[in-house]
Amino acid sequence: MPLTPSLLLCPVCRGPLSSVEADRGRSLTCPGGHRYDAARQGYFNLLTGSGTKFAADTAEMVQARVDFLSSGHYQPMAQEVARLVAGAVPDARSVLDAGAGTGYYLGAVTRSLPGTAAVALDISKFALRRAARALPAATCLVWDVWRPLPLADASVDAVVNVFAPRNVPEFRRVLSTNGILMVVTPQPEHLQEIRSLAGMLDIGGEKENRVAAAVKDHFRAEQTSHCEYSMNLSAADIRNVALMGPSARHLDRDLLGNTLAKIPESIPVTASFSLQLFRAA
Ligand SMILES: C[S@@+](CC[C@H](N)C(=O)[O-])C[C@H]1O[C@@H](n2cnc3c(N)ncnc32)[C@H](O)[C@@H]1O
Ligand SMILES: [Zn+2]
Repeated sequence: MPLTPSLLLCPVCRGPLSSVEADRGRSLTCPGGHRYDAARQGYFNLLTGSGTKFAADTAEMVQARVDFLSSGHYQPMAQEVARLVAGAVPDARSVLDAGAGTGYYLGAVTRSLPGTAAVALDISKFALRRAARALPAATCLVWDVWRPLPLADASVDAVVNVFAPRNVPEFRRVLSTNGILMVVTPQPEHLQEIRSLAGMLDIGGEKENRVAAAVKDHFRAEQTSHCEYSMNLSAADIRNVALMGPSARHLDRDLLGNTLAKIPESIPVTASFSLQLFRAA
């Protein structure tokens, strides 16, 4: 897990965090003597001892996400995100994925920007275990995006945010001059064929406008793209897509099971995403 010096800040005293060479980079320390040891899987839990009121994704949700993403159904969107980010900041030295989950999108972005330092931040240690395994070169940090980020001012060239909470002033602070923010949200048509069947939450039609309004004091809108295509989803895919998101917390499992039992081999389901690219203003 190579670290980028001067990128990370100690969450306690805001001093610079550096890796302990004698410990093969498996510990981070600051001049104030605070120390963070990597978990066995390679991520750093910077939230130790400072619980949070936000519900992290559970192991079950993370497993469903890993299984769904590995089926490739969101790959066209991931590739489009990577293409847009690489086109917008071709010389990026570092990229932060805020709410990185299992690192699927950060992986796509860093493959299109070879040599770029990658930071995956998420509140779920179950998700970051996967991210750390999938992206051994990335720095994976368990952290709450609603707290001051453990990153120095102007230390990253791109922030990627896919279906995850956004702390806009903090994203702006950590971004370099001319850095970009890429926000991906689902469109109302996303998964429309299976939302009610699987008891999933509806998607508000105003998401894109809400994102634009939330960032407008800190960023200038550069480009909005829509990525829409049809997926052929099996019953297993539908179960995973239902269980991997926020709907999982209030899903009716019996309804889901009954619905899935009636699914033929696969059904066509719409994928529809908004990809909004903003430039630090
Ligand atoms: C719907 S998932 C999306 C994950 C990933 N971007 C993806 O699309 O595969 C939302 C992610 O945000 C994370 N998350 C939720 N609240 C958070 C917070 N306060 N701070 C950091 N991450 C948070 C969850 O743990 C989860 O991994
Ligand atoms: Zn410190």
